[in-house]
Amino acid sequence: MALAMRQRASRAPAPRFRTQLSADSLAQFVDPLPIPEIAKSSELRPSPTDPAIKLPYYRIPMRQFESKIHRDLKPTRQWGYGGSSPGPTFETRSGQGLLVEWANELPTSHFLPIDHSIHGAEADKPEVRTVVHLHGAKTMADSDGYPEDWFVPGKSAICHYPNRQDAAMLWYHDHALGINRLNVFAGLVGAFFVRDEFEDALELPRGKYEIPLVLYDRMFDLESQLNYPVSGDPKKPWTPEVFGDAILVNGKLFPYLEVEPRKYRFRVLNAANGRFFHLSLSNGQAFYQIGTDQGLLPAPVRIERVGLAPGERADLTVDFSAAAGQNVVMNNDVAFTVMQFRVSRAMSRGAGEARALPAILRPVPRIAESSAVKTRTLSLVEVDDPVQRPMTMLLNNTHWSMPVTENPVLDSIEIWELLNTTDDAHPIHLHLVRFQILDRRRFDVANYWMTGGKVRYTGEATPPEPGEAGWKDTVRADPGMVTRIIIRFEGFPGRYVWHCHLLEHEDNEMMRPFEVIAK
Ligand code: C2O
Ligand code: CU
Repeated sequence: MALAMRQRASRAPAPRFRTQLSADSLAQFVDPLPIPEIAKSSELRPSPTDPAIKLPYYRIPMRQFESKIHRDLKPTRQWGYGGSSPGPTFETRSGQGLLVEWANELPTSHFLPIDHSIHGAEADKPEVRTVVHLHGAKTMADSDGYPEDWFVPGKSAICHYPNRQDAAMLWYHDHALGINRLNVFAGLVGAFFVRDEFEDALELPRGKYEIPLVLYDRMFDLESQLNYPVSGDPKKPWTPEVFGDAILVNGKLFPYLEVEPRKYRFRVLNAANGRFFHLSLSNGQAFYQIGTDQGLLPAPVRIERVGLAPGERADLTVDFSAAAGQNVVMNNDVAFTVMQFRVSRAMSRGAGEARALPAILRPVPRIAESSAVKTRTLSLVEVDDPVQRPMTMLLNNTHWSMPVTENPVLDSIEIWELLNTTDDAHPIHLHLVRFQILDRRRFDVANYWMTGGKVRYTGEATPPEPGEAGWKDTVRADPGMVTRIIIRFEGFPGRYVWHCHLLEHEDNEMMRPFEVIAK
């Protein structure tokens, strides 16, 4: 487990920074936690698949804006959906489709360092390109935000989200080929909730007692501006991973939230480019995790330290009733303060007591391994230059532009064995589908290379952690391990992508198309 948790000990030369602001030098808990606005639809429009049906239509412009991420900093230039970061939160119902027009109203030049040596970001491409992916959604291919379907300022794309899936926290973010890491770092992220009757019936904390927490780390310079690290080679500014010392929650640094001494539900998203979070509470209290990426777990799980790789979500409840009158801090690892909860002494007048957490949540029927029609072994590989600097990351030794090799048949079940030959954990995300983790098992990486690809296991297979034992769309492939997932390719035929959700890796070839073939 120690390996799984560790962050990269980089062999690369330290990235160069503009003079960096030290987040530690700032006062903590001086700004209230912002809650992103709820997106509003402006009209009804005919469904593209059935014109007799009218669907709510939303228009979300992407804009450059400035906002203060901390009381004592100057306003920071950012890019955001609806002119904020995170963008507006979508509140939707399962089975109720909707249309979103994503409008690129950004400036025509980028304010973060583009690496033109990266495939898809060559100097002849427009600097500012965007395409939006709704992460975790079961969406037709033409609305899924294929990385090459980018559009430039002045243009927009209308996406149809049918929402035929279980209640879950999804999220939307940029996915433009070769500059995705920069667009997301600039602020192009937002939350998207799907609700359903099953979830309603559990009477979980809701309204002001249910709070989205969108986490990401950033670096800032002394002018309070975003400071994206570069390699030191002006022709190839790409760096393999980005870790900032400022951890933002809903776009604020060290915010506080006033809470009542009762149960809350926190919908937590790791929207960082590269940081893995390991969250804990300062009073030693545990979280109860009730859901993961694609919805509710079979039963609540008590967890003292919640691990979240980039792209993953955790649905957590915290009961503050034993902490009345106290301040509780949420920390990340040992060194980082995330935010503070100020627990009032008494409940607000008229507030009802929260219902006890149900012991049973939502059944997650296990997909039988015997139902898989195909097993694919897919390697995760880091390619270094002669002085051992990472140059690129590959899935199965293939580049983005090579022909499609993963072509599951619609509705068939497959097992994917993610064989991680590198020293890093990589969060692997598949578009369109939800899946289950079967197990992880250590193998001999040196032997694998020496024998030209033989897998010799050196440990026992370990089942998913309790907080991962539900429906997932992103899985941590730990270093030196084979991580097995089982997937039913439900939804729609067409071309989608699977990739590492460390955005620096994804942009530099750690992403591949897959094609769902109609039966
Ligand atoms: Cu969250 Cu392909 O992405
Ligand atoms: Cu990766």
